[in-house]
Amino acid sequence: MTAIEEIKQRIDIVEFISRYTPLQRAGSRYKGLCPFHNERTPSFIVSPDRGSWHCFGACSTGGDIFEFLMRKENMSFRDALETLARETGVELDDHNGDPERRRRAGLYAINEDAAAYFQDILRHHAQAAPARAYLERRQIDAATAERFAIGYALDKWDGLRNHLLHLGHSLPDLIAAGVIKENAEQTSTYDVFRGRVIIPIRDRRGRIVGFGGRVLDDSVPKYLNTPDTALFHKTKTIYAIDLAQDAIRRADQVVIVEGYMDVIAAHQYGFENVVACMGTALTSDQLQQLNRYTDNFVLALDADAAGQQATLRGLNQAREALQRQARLRPTAQGLAFEQRLAANLQIVSMPEGTDPDDVIRRDPAAWRDLVAGAQPLVEFFFKIAADRFDLTSGPGKGAAVSSLAPLIAELGDDVEREHYTRQLSKLVNISLERIEERVQAAVRTESVRHRRRPAPDELSPAPPRDAAVMPPPRGAEQGGFTQEDHLLALLLSSPELLIWLVQACGRMEIQPIQVDDFQRLENREIYRTLRQYLVGDEGWDSTLFQDELADPLHGRFGLMLAYGAQHPSRDATAVQEDAVKRLLSVRLNRLKEQSREINEMQRDLQEAHETAAAKDVGQANHEITRERWHLERLVKHLNELLYEQNRHNAGVRIQ
Ligand code: UTP
Ligand code: MN
Repeated sequence: MTAIEEIKQRIDIVEFISRYTPLQRAGSRYKGLCPFHNERTPSFIVSPDRGSWHCFGACSTGGDIFEFLMRKENMSFRDALETLARETGVELDDHNGDPERRRRAGLYAINEDAAAYFQDILRHHAQAAPARAYLERRQIDAATAERFAIGYALDKWDGLRNHLLHLGHSLPDLIAAGVIKENAEQTSTYDVFRGRVIIPIRDRRGRIVGFGGRVLDDSVPKYLNTPDTALFHKTKTIYAIDLAQDAIRRADQVVIVEGYMDVIAAHQYGFENVVACMGTALTSDQLQQLNRYTDNFVLALDADAAGQQATLRGLNQAREALQRQARLRPTAQGLAFEQRLAANLQIVSMPEGTDPDDVIRRDPAAWRDLVAGAQPLVEFFFKIAADRFDLTSGPGKGAAVSSLAPLIAELGDDVEREHYTRQLSKLVNISLERIEERVQAAVRTESVRHRRRPAPDELSPAPPRDAAVMPPPRGAEQGGFTQEDHLLALLLSSPELLIWLVQACGRMEIQPIQVDDFQRLENREIYRTLRQYLVGDEGWDSTLFQDELADPLHGRFGLMLAYGAQHPSRDATAVQEDAVKRLLSVRLNRLKEQSREINEMQRDLQEAHETAAAKDVGQANHEITRERWHLERLVKHLNELLYEQNRHNAGVRIQ
């Protein structure tokens, strides 16, 4: 029995829900006023034998005990699970026997323990006095040091090692976490960070993945970072994303700076939508992660970096990569599917010899102005070229065109490309035709050099050809797999299918696929997580995805993947057709079952002389019958609809 099943078995749903709304016996069920909306006559029914509740009034929804708690207390599944596990005394096996996951959990734990150790030393240790003085000199206040969990590593070879070994971590794990190193002869080990201010680096969920350590003086290297480990990848990490994400969403803008200290100063002064890209050129992976929260990027580059053509090329390509993505976005109405988005990348070039840290501490208003005055990326390229080349000389013109034409060629949008082609022609005073030729030539080189980019209308709907698929539906169950299990397994083996399916629902004028299409709690939760994951746009990676799932769901997820992998490939259209059929039959089955349940409930209520409630419940049946008609009609005409669907890509929403 899984932890989830055990919790359900141990909890008395009537007693639990009674804490929120008084329930009265009505036959074999209980009724009461719905705790989710205001009402005067009860339309809320609890069925203890099924462990479920249902509101037949305004909410017209229901679920199990988890669903109840999540809605009522606005909790995530993870939190509801923990709450109910605590209440029922069910052990949540944390790592579910998955060795890779257990290993990663061990590394996180080492990082947490190390951070606590460094922090403790900074606060209390006599030998940390110079570090405390250093932070004071840099005007980092106590609250900020606390928020960023800043610490100090003593100038010793074995302080951290001994501490962590004492806590029970193993030496190989400490090495794997990147906090301890082995000498070349492999005869001894030593602390990586010594005599440095320690800055923990967290992922967006707040877990420590690595550290940066700064010297207190001018020695080199100024910063030492955790080497790449299972948890830490410099090119993928975004410093302070845990603290900045909400502010980025609120401001609908992210400001990207280069240094830890810049971020820390910004946050101390209330600019909380600021993150850093670890001193490396911004990668398209980092941009894509940030694109979860906003389309508006402002990049503060120091004066040297701004002059570097390589940095700028990288940025342009990263921007273009973003624009080629089809993705799901959250909106007030639910999730919307978008085929393109205009990532808006702007540059602030810091005044010579300053960095954001200096500017902010000297004059926060000046920083605000700098950010507000950021220039669109391509405009910025023009300015750089104009500064760098002598545009009156032949060679100068040649150099300017050579540097700008490829950048213009990389722009995905035709109108934009023409606009800047004209601008370049004016800038160097060379005929438009000649400049166009150069841009065209650059477009051709581009498309040879890079993998061919899909045109926007190719992005959807086809899932990869080798997508694993289930055999076609035959009856409600197959090998213990229900229809909704099949549907979910299909989606997990080719997640792009979700986008296609949402569009298909739009064409059929039925509710888009949604959490409520899945009855089984684990399936609901996996689906919910999948949807969120796809909004995040990190690219599909089943290990990363699994990481997002609460532990008790891992078993089921593995089962689904394994099931998907067992089945031979089929072509994309067949997979799509399969998915739609599954969805429709999931819905039809559910409606049939609801009808049955309602009839039974109505009988029960009548026997208990609850005439008014019985009538309410009966009302729900009409609605259900209407829906069934519609779905049955769709099933009949499915082939025509699918054909239509493949010719259209309507804007659609997922709820
Ligand atoms: P900066 O030198 O701009 O860092 O390097 P900073 O944060 O402003 O440092 P302060 O103000 O001198 O203390 C930018 C970033 O590049 C990385 C770090 O992430 C740093 O924050 N870096 C820099 C290193 O990893 N190693 C180095 O030796 C230097
Ligand atoms: Mn600095």
